[in-house]
Parts: sequence; C-alpha cells; structure tokens
Amino acid sequence: MSSRDTGELHIVVLAAGKGTRMRSARPKVLHEIGGRSMLSHCLDTARVLSPASIRVVIGHQGEAVRASVAETDIEWIWQDEQKGTGHAVSLGIDGLDASDGARVLVLYADVPLLEADTLHRLIQDPVAVALLTVRMDQPHGYGRIIRDASGAVLRIVEQKDASDTEKQVQEVNTGILMARFADLKRWLGSLDSGNAQGELYLTDVVEMASGEGKPVRAVVADDVWSVTGINDRLALGRLERVYQSRQAERLAFSGTTLADLHRIDIRGSLTCGQDVQIDVGCVFEGEVRLGDNVRVGPHCVLRDCEVADGSTVEAFSYLEGATLARGNHVGPYARLRPGTCLDAGAKVGNFVEIKASRIGPGSKVNHLSYVGDSQVGTDCNLGAGTITCNYDGANKHRTILGDRVFVGSSSQLVAPVTVGDDATIGAGSTITRDVSQGALVIARSRQVERSDWRRPQKKTD
Ligand code: UD1
Ligand code: CA
Repeated sequence: MSSRDTGELHIVVLAAGKGTRMRSARPKVLHEIGGRSMLSHCLDTARVLSPASIRVVIGHQGEAVRASVAETDIEWIWQDEQKGTGHAVSLGIDGLDASDGARVLVLYADVPLLEADTLHRLIQDPVAVALLTVRMDQPHGYGRIIRDASGAVLRIVEQKDASDTEKQVQEVNTGILMARFADLKRWLGSLDSGNAQGELYLTDVVEMASGEGKPVRAVVADDVWSVTGINDRLALGRLERVYQSRQAERLAFSGTTLADLHRIDIRGSLTCGQDVQIDVGCVFEGEVRLGDNVRVGPHCVLRDCEVADGSTVEAFSYLEGATLARGNHVGPYARLRPGTCLDAGAKVGNFVEIKASRIGPGSKVNHLSYVGDSQVGTDCNLGAGTITCNYDGANKHRTILGDRVFVGSSSQLVAPVTVGDDATIGAGSTITRDVSQGALVIARSRQVERSDWRRPQKKTD
C-alpha cells in the first residue's frame, strides 16, 4: 500500500494524570530528564514523525503544563476528570479533522526515552491496531498481552482484572498504541467502565478489534528503558542515568574520550570535535560546542559555551555564555560569565571572574582578579588581584586597556577608564584617570620608613 492508503497520522499525547507518587508541587510531566521536561522529550519525538496534528490531553495543573511549551504546533485538550485512558483518548480525538483512513498514535507524556525509530516500526504497516509491548521479568502493575495459541493478540487485561494465569504473562502493554481513526472512534464510543477500576480502558479496543477479526499487531520493544513510564522519583532518577549513559556512549562512539562514561551529565546538546578529552564530573548545559583537541578537566560546568580547537579548561571551572578561541587556557577555579570572549592564546587562571569582556590575543589574567565590562588588548598582563571597578552603585562603566599593558598586582581600575598601549601600572595602584600610551603610573601612597620607631610594650603592674 502507498502512504496515501495508510492515511495521515494524528498524535494524541496523554498528560492529564496527577502524578501523586512524585510527591511534588510540579506537574509530573514537567519534571526533567537531561535538563528538559518529560513532555518536551515526548513532543520532540512526536514531531520526528511529521504528524498532521499533535494533541495533548491535560488535566491536573494543565495550565502549567501548557505554559511550559513555547511551540504553537500543539492543540491542548482538557480532561477535567480523569476517567481512564479510554476517556482521555476519546476526548483527544473528539472533533479531530481526520480522514477515515487516518491513523491515531497514542503516546504517554511520562515516557521520555521512547525513540522515534521504535515508533516508525509501530506505524509502518496499515493494520487496524498496532501495540507497543515489552517483556518484563516483573510485570506486576502492567496490562498483560493475551494471545491465542497461534500467537495472535486477543486482548489486554489489566493487573487488577487479571486471573492468576494471566498474571503469569510477562509481555506487557506499554500503553503506546496506534489505531485507525474511524475504528478507534467507534470502539471508544462503546467502552464501558465495568472493570475493577471503574474506568474507561483504552486497552479494551484491542479485544474489540480482534472480535471483529481485524488485524492487531504487537511490536515488541527491545529495550525496557525506552518504554518505561515515570511514576516516582526513583524512576525519574533511574531514567536520568540511562539517558546520560546513552549520551555518553554516543559521544565515546563518535570519538570523544570520557574519563568515566558514568560521570558526565549533558543537559542540552554537546558537540565535540576530534580528540576531545573530558574528565570526570563535568556538567554541560544548553548548547556547548568543543573544537578539536579541547581538554576539559574534572568537575567543570559549561553552559552555552563555545570552545575552539586546542583550548584547555582546568578543574573546577564554571563557564557560562563564554566564547573561547584557539589555544586558551582557563582555570583551575575560573569563572567566566556571559559575554566573556577570550582571543587566541589568552590565559585565565585561578579565582578569576570575567564578565562581558574581551581578553585580547595572548593576554593573561592569571590570579584572583575581576574583569567586568572591559576590553583588554593584545599581550597584556593583569597581575594578581587586578580589579575593574565597573559599577558605581547605579551604572556600569567600561575599562579599556590597549596592547601590551602591564597592570601591577592588586590594582584597581575605576571605570570608565582607558589605558594606552604599552602603559605600566605600578602594583597597588588605584587608577581613576586615563593613562597615556607608554607611561608608568603609580597611584599608591609612598612608602615611609621610621628607624626611631619602637613597638609598644605590654604594661606590667
Ligand atoms: C496503563 C494501561 C496498561 C499499561 C500501562 C503502562 C490502560 C487501561 N492501562 O495503565 O495496560 O500497562 O498504562 O504504563 O490504559 N491518563 C490521562 N487521563 C486519564 C487516565 C490516564 O491522561 O483519565 C494518562 C496518565 O497521565 C498517564 C497515562 O495516561 O500518562 C497512563 O495512565 P495510568 O493511570 O498511569 O495507566 P495505568 O493504570 O498505569
Ligand atoms: Ca502508569
């Protein structure tokens, strides 16, 4: 059959449940895996299938759930009272503008690791109903897949309705299912709640399909984690680790050296060039790009950063919104805040904070400094304890240093201030006025020596 015969695809995502076991003020589906909500994982996977529509059924804290999604390609359906998965899906397809041959795919918003490839396998053939199932050693709590002697799927029986023999079945319903729109509409219309939970079970459509002699196909997922739903924070924590180790494996496979595959966290996207080395305990957030031969020492945090070829970030550094050129050396214990740009070969050492500043090629800020709202030229040296006083209590001001400027240790540059090329600032100076090119300035009190002075003596009586 051609794709036209199989009809367009509509996706209904179930997200109305309460998530009591999370014990959280936050809606369950907004808890995060890899720094993104479970719902956002689910929607991204849904979008890969290029569906004609995506509808999300919301209920508990629905406003918050809706507000978490910025994209406008979603239709939100309210389910005020949760009367079961069958009820949720019937609301989900109510008034849907679909052809009779259309297919409806039901997803759960609390199953974040499901991959589009698995869904492609589920939706590829035009059958009446396709179910995603999985085998579990401990199937307790799940709906069991009941097959006949020939292996054909007959129905799904929920844990609470299952007989002792049925409870032995280890193949379970993941909840993810595809059905033809026209059939589904008809079947959902005749569901009843005569079961142990008094709910409208979506799963009952399977028995209706097999009763009509319609083909029901079960696709068995080969990985339990990818179909695991999250109900509590234990599952949340476990799936987070699975998600992280998958990303670590992907990185390692594509040529990045990780000191420990189990000690890296990527909450966003990390792109690495060739021969990148990442030590233990690093956290990458947002979008981070590392060039060739970049080395990141242990326990660093990089958020929305770009690090060019051959640069090194040493242990315990915290970089946010920073751009590093080639051959930079940063840390240990450096803090680079948004708007930091290091030009080629620049060095930033321990206990240095830099914000909204450009550090020119080959320049060094090696120890205990704060550089904010500044522009530092080529080959400058900022001595230990250099502070740019960029804030007057009301406004921020800029500090501009030319090329080859030498700033002696423990100096303050009170902005706005400009220092010319080749100028030298004596250690311990407080610079409040512009400094001319090539000049030496010393702005500290003179040293006084008194050889007639005696230390006070402790009184004795
Ligand atoms: C359901 C399946 C079960 C399957 C299991 C997999 C049914 C009757 N049973 O059981 O066969 O093994 O999932 O996890 O379908 N939801 C709504 N509105 C409702 C009810 C549920 O949006 O009225 C949402 C929930 O938020 C959740 C999902 O649907 O995301 C599943 O609901 P849940 O109550 O967890 O279903 P189970 O009883 O676990
Ligand atoms: Ca469940």
